[in-house]
Amino acid sequence: MGKTKKYCYGICLLSSIVINILFSINLYLGGGGGALQRGEKNLEIVYRPSLTWTEKAAAEAEAVAAISCSGHGRAYLDSLISDGQTVCECYTCYGGIDCSEFSPGCSADADSGDPIFLEPFWMQKAEDSAIVVSGWHRMSYSYAGYTSMSTMSLEVEKYIHKIHSIVGNAITEGRYLVFGIGSSQLLSAAVYALSSQNSSSPSNVVATIPYYPMYEAQTLFFNSEDFEFEGDTNSWKLNNATNNMDVIEFVTSPNNPDGELKTSVIGGKTIYDHAYFWPHFTPIPAPSDHDFMIFTLSKLTGHAGARFGWAVIKDKDVYEKVSTYIQVADLGISKDTQLRVLKLLKVAVEDDGKQLFKFAYDKMRQRWDRLTSVFSKSTRFSIQKRDPLHCNFFNETRLPSPAYAWVKCEREEEDDCHAVLEAGKIIGRTGSTYKAKDRYVRLSLIKSQDDFDLLMLRLTELVSLENEFLSYKQNKNVRNAREAGMTNSTPPKHPIHYGTRNRT
Ligand SMILES: Cc1ncc(COP(=O)(O)O)c(C=O)c1O
Ligand SMILES: *[C@@H]1O[C@H](CO)[C@@H](O)[C@H](O)[C@H]1NC(C)=O
Ligand SMILES: *[C@@H]1O[C@H](CO)[C@@H](O)[C@H](O)[C@H]1NC(C)=O
Ligand SMILES: *[C@@H]1O[C@H](CO)[C@@H](O)[C@H](O)[C@H]1NC(C)=O
Repeated sequence: MGKTKKYCYGICLLSSIVINILFSINLYLGGGGGALQRGEKNLEIVYRPSLTWTEKAAAEAEAVAAISCSGHGRAYLDSLISDGQTVCECYTCYGGIDCSEFSPGCSADADSGDPIFLEPFWMQKAEDSAIVVSGWHRMSYSYAGYTSMSTMSLEVEKYIHKIHSIVGNAITEGRYLVFGIGSSQLLSAAVYALSSQNSSSPSNVVATIPYYPMYEAQTLFFNSEDFEFEGDTNSWKLNNATNNMDVIEFVTSPNNPDGELKTSVIGGKTIYDHAYFWPHFTPIPAPSDHDFMIFTLSKLTGHAGARFGWAVIKDKDVYEKVSTYIQVADLGISKDTQLRVLKLLKVAVEDDGKQLFKFAYDKMRQRWDRLTSVFSKSTRFSIQKRDPLHCNFFNETRLPSPAYAWVKCEREEEDDCHAVLEAGKIIGRTGSTYKAKDRYVRLSLIKSQDDFDLLMLRLTELVSLENEFLSYKQNKNVRNAREAGMTNSTPPKHPIHYGTRNRT
């Protein structure tokens, strides 16, 4: 990994002094002058007595944020320190101490679902989204100020209700909320809570192919007497329909990997995984109102690292089981995380969500525009079909812009699509990860702009290879025709050989 050190203490000290002087001037002139006209936020700043213990932390935070890493990496307060300097963490394909060196032959990595596409939004919102955490912030296990001992912030709950009501993607009034360490933890809590807890007939956990592999991984890993993973809903229906057995169905809507809005196949107990049910990725046709719904901050604001998810539950007994699960597993989730979530949600609901969702949707739509333009030139590869739907949030009919492209290799002989793309320097995730055929590959579209730009470059190269081959073939026909005296087109200078893989 590339590393860098940037020295900005001098500059930061200087700007800190300048800012302090400006503040004092503001304070002095603040009685009713122009600065006050700009609204409440300025009022708060103007009338605050000078800062005491937060100044050092603020200066540290700004100093590290000022390290640019050439725009191809990041430095954080907790990044490695080497020789007294903060080390840049470079993005894929970039290296050097300041991440300025691009490795030309590097493969585009479209593998993980890391939601870095929203990072520029939070950089725009630097001032509104930063928090300062005191050394004595909420040292207790619980929120003691509340009437009953609780490990969930009521303010965070309030903002979760608020964002759902603004977006109109879920009914949460009169429902129970439970927080988890990411939605990942709530997926297994949900299976536990919905299982019949009868070891002589374990509940059967199912999902619809192609499905997110974590459902199966968790159900196997937690290896309980109370539930078993039984695979695909459709095969389940074919083979076990008559048995009328105890089934827990994961419904992922929109689906990971293909972005489809799904509904239950079996129609019994369901866990709706709504990780991607936000206007960035799909039109919101109506609020979801299922018994058990799971959401995550990871795909809403992009803060996967904060590890925060929530479940919206109708039934009191189920809610109590989920709460018990969380209490036994970790005595509730981090108060530091909840503080951060509160701040982020406050920004998310600004302007009734218009800023965040417009930014996020525009970004995803731009990426889909570029993606579809490349794939429209290909007959070798195709991507999922998208149908327009009315979005209640934007009050407009729109195409979905899913988090992932679900790519299919169309040529009969190319049944290992991951390997085909890999040979073209593109790393995706195999179809079989989702129990689909390896003729499919998932490509992540929610990573950083660098990652996406490189993906577009590699895809364009791959598709143009195919087209040059085609035009070579066409030109050969033309040449034959010309030789027969029918036209005067020239043959291509560099006939490209269609890259056959050495793997089958
Ligand atoms: C469908 C789905 N559910 C849940 C998760 C888990 O996310 P987290 O644990 O970050 O909330 C993911 C992550 O990619 C996902 O794709
Ligand atoms: C547990 O499952 C067995 C077998 O299906 C059934 O006979 C029994 O009644 C169940 N017990 C409870 C408490 O539901
Ligand atoms: C459901 O059907 C499949 C295929 O026939 C079988 O392997 C599986 O054991 C069945 N599950 C149960 C719980 O009966
Ligand atoms: C939604 O759009 C339609 C057509 O443009 C308009 O008539 C209607 O007033 C809009 N609704 C809201 C709630 O803005």
